[in-house]
Amino acid sequence: MTVLRAEDLRVTYSTKGGDVPAVRGVSFEIDKGEVLGLAGESGCGKSTIAGAILRLHSPNTKIEGTLELEGEDVLSLKPGRLRADDLRRPPTASRLAGDRAAESVPAQGHA
Ligand SMILES: Nc1ncnc2c1ncn2[C@@H]1O[C@H](COP(=O)(O)OP(=O)(O)OP(=O)(O)O)[C@@H](O)[C@H]1O
Ligand SMILES: [Mg+2]
Repeated sequence: MTVLRAEDLRVTYSTKGGDVPAVRGVSFEIDKGEVLGLAGESGCGKSTIAGAILRLHSPNTKIEGTLELEGEDVLSLKPGRLRADDLRRPPTASRLAGDRAAESVPAQGHA
């Protein structure tokens, strides 16, 4: 069973200096019980991907493509819904994966 699915994920930061195409064409699937590690050079977009999954980016950051958590469109969830839902649900692989990602994001500095 697919818990988290990204298809052609694209994230663009809007800055005073113009648009920053931080993530382009990222696709992956994480099944129940699986753990996905993101590795890559500094600035390649690891924190940006984690931020998109957790809806941590500011509203003027453009997130395009498909991002589904247990079949639900993460990008159309209202802010806060992801966490509110998790509080009501028993622990699942997706929640545990989200918790781990949330722990790692504040340590990144600009996520
Ligand atoms: N808030 C932001 N506004 C504009 N550009 C940003 C912002 N955050 C990140 N970027 C840019 O987006 C790109 C991806 O950055 P990101 O922080 O996701 O990389 P990373 O893989 O997590 O890097 P690191 O390994 O250093 O943590 C980089 O070019 C970065 O400069
Ligand atoms: Mg980072």
